[in-house]
Amino acid sequence: MPPAVSRTPTDSAVTLAHIMSEHDTNLYGTVHGGVVMKLIDDAAAAAAGRHAGVPAVTVSVEEMSFLAPVRAGDLLTVRARVDHAGRSSMDVSVVVTAERWNLTGPVTRVATAQLVFVAVDADGQPHRVPALVPESTVEQRRERLARERRARRAKGEAG
Ligand SMILES: CC(C)(COP(=O)(O)OP(=O)(O)OC[C@H]1O[C@@H](n2cnc3c(N)ncnc32)[C@H](O)[C@@H]1OP(=O)(O)O)[C@@H](O)C(=O)NCCC(=O)NCCS
Repeated sequence: MPPAVSRTPTDSAVTLAHIMSEHDTNLYGTVHGGVVMKLIDDAAAAAAGRHAGVPAVTVSVEEMSFLAPVRAGDLLTVRARVDHAGRSSMDVSVVVTAERWNLTGPVTRVATAQLVFVAVDADGQPHRVPALVPESTVEQRRERLARERRARRAKGEAG
């Protein structure tokens, strides 16, 4: 039986903000992709854990795109939300934006990602998660798209 409680995407959405330092940069003076990936994974894990009500582990990174360079001094905002909940797995989307250190330009979208998490019990085994109830039409569309991705994954596994 799934947990009696259900949650909306807003219930578990997470926003992390982080100022990049020179310790995060590579030899070219821009921030390492791995630093941004860790922030994405942290925010997504927090959103998945919030939805599940138990810890959730990353099982798959479905998509990760770096759209613009990040530099020391930039204020990164990492927004994660659960798009779809299965039996124990959750599809999570993340959008990362940067406010440049001189704060003159527009807020820039610098990365996007889609990950899959699995809620786990104390023994590290998959744990049933609450149903996701998308409210707005945008949330309903995201849920449908995530369900389609999940169906494609299942087909890939079968083939
Ligand atoms: C999470 C874990 C316990 C799941 O074990 P498992 O044997 O794959 O479990 P199942 O086959 O029952 O699958 C559980 C769910 O995960 C989903 N899943 C498993 N592997 C997946 C993958 N690679 N991509 C997407 N979904 C996946 C399944 O579809 C299933 O979803 P559902 O319950 O919503 O239907 C196991 O894979 C694990 O411990 N992985 C390591 C996780 C980890 O340590 N992450 C941090 C990386 S450092």
